[in-house]
Amino acid sequence: MQLIFEKSRTGRGSAILPPSDVPAAPLPQALRRQAPLRLPEVAECDLDRHYAALARRSHGVCSGFYPLGSCTMKYNPRIDEELAQLPGFAGVHPLQPARTAEGCVEVLKEAEAALCEVTGMDAMTFQPAAGAHGEFTGLLLIQAYHRARGDAARTKILVPDSAHGTNPASAAMAGYAVVNVPSGPDGCVDLQALRAAVGPDTAGLMLTNPNTVGLFDGNILEITRIVHEAGGLCYYDGANLNAVMGIARPGDMGFDVVHLNLHKTFSTPHGGGGPGSGPVGCKAFLRDFLPDSRLGGHPGAQSVGQVRAFYGNFAVTLRALCYILTLGGPGLREASENAVLNANYMMHALKDTYDMAYDHTCMHEFVMTLEKLKHETGVSALDVAKGLLDAGIHPPTMYFPLIVHEALMVEPTETESRETLDEAVQALKDLAREAHEHPEALHARPLTAPVRRPDEVGAARNPKLRFDFA
Ligand SMILES: Cc1ncc(COP(=O)(O)O)c(C=O)c1O
Repeated sequence: MQLIFEKSRTGRGSAILPPSDVPAAPLPQALRRQAPLRLPEVAECDLDRHYAALARRSHGVCSGFYPLGSCTMKYNPRIDEELAQLPGFAGVHPLQPARTAEGCVEVLKEAEAALCEVTGMDAMTFQPAAGAHGEFTGLLLIQAYHRARGDAARTKILVPDSAHGTNPASAAMAGYAVVNVPSGPDGCVDLQALRAAVGPDTAGLMLTNPNTVGLFDGNILEITRIVHEAGGLCYYDGANLNAVMGIARPGDMGFDVVHLNLHKTFSTPHGGGGPGSGPVGCKAFLRDFLPDSRLGGHPGAQSVGQVRAFYGNFAVTLRALCYILTLGGPGLREASENAVLNANYMMHALKDTYDMAYDHTCMHEFVMTLEKLKHETGVSALDVAKGLLDAGIHPPTMYFPLIVHEALMVEPTETESRETLDEAVQALKDLAREAHEHPEALHARPLTAPVRRPDEVGAARNPKLRFDFA
């Protein structure tokens, strides 16, 4: 498919601008462009077709099942989109006087109250633009807290080996040394190893519960107690909150700081790179360290300072509030219960066909290991993932978490029907049979996708992000 720049023909265009209704104000020479801006010039019809073709070539929640583990690709109710597009919200400017944007201020206040209730926190900032940004912000709070107490010796952050890669990355960005805490054979934190790792240099622990292998760590109160007793703080990675909303709160598990991925749990389409929102909540004793532009507050002298302009991605917060108000407390709980039910339904249906990495009742996602299948047939997790594309299903997350070999991590979410789950189970069973009967056919899949087997390493190492006009 040609790029929009390749379709460009000089002189063609789609823009018809209305006559200006303000006096012309010539730009100072120094600010003027030296050469014309190289925008693609295409007719409206071709422009429309170009983007429609791109949309057809990609897979979204509206095109089919999307069980991408750790990403919560659930259906986002259309009503939330409609409300986010109301002109009073969509047209607001962050610099307009607060008295002309009282509705927006109210949205932020209500969202803060609701999400504090869901997480068991006391205050929240909406500045961070995504989960990883929230992690970094949360770690800055932890750092500021220790510094304010004059404790400069706490230079290490503990991170379980099952953690999402952004956890150690955020800790390193915040200037911490990362200490890896191994998991036990049950997939949960090894308490002995944790006890051995904590000490006077521990600034904190980052943990997600349920963790990235889809298991709820039943020792969570003990884990947070161990870290607190050593003088560290506990950070909750809320990316997996879809499993526990309305059922268990990080604040009650002993966590001091939490980020949420609003774009996952609370209704915002994502997957194409944004927009996201990673609000950070904290207990009252950390409130003064939150970024500046908190509602109703002036920048505290102890604030870590702004981490993003204004109030973050406001429209994502707005959608989250609409979602929470639509479902209500019992609805949120039911959503999580169904997310867990759907994951267990699929896991049990697949148990006899694929090896499960941990054969326990799972939470909202489960991890299969295709190590044995690969050994017996040569068919890898990648091959099975590619095979699913031909069944119109987005592959599960592959090769993550790193502690599971040949991993496929499946997160069906609560919004899928039993029929959809059954179809996906059947597709996975068919692929397992194909692996044994015609392994070479599976190496050649997908047969129907517009792009078949891209060079993923090449794409990561030598990304082509610019059009070469020459
Ligand atoms: C467990 C976990 N933590 C953190 C993140 C980072 O979130 P984001 O992609 O919004 O930066 C993810 C994203 O997939 C995740 O799964």
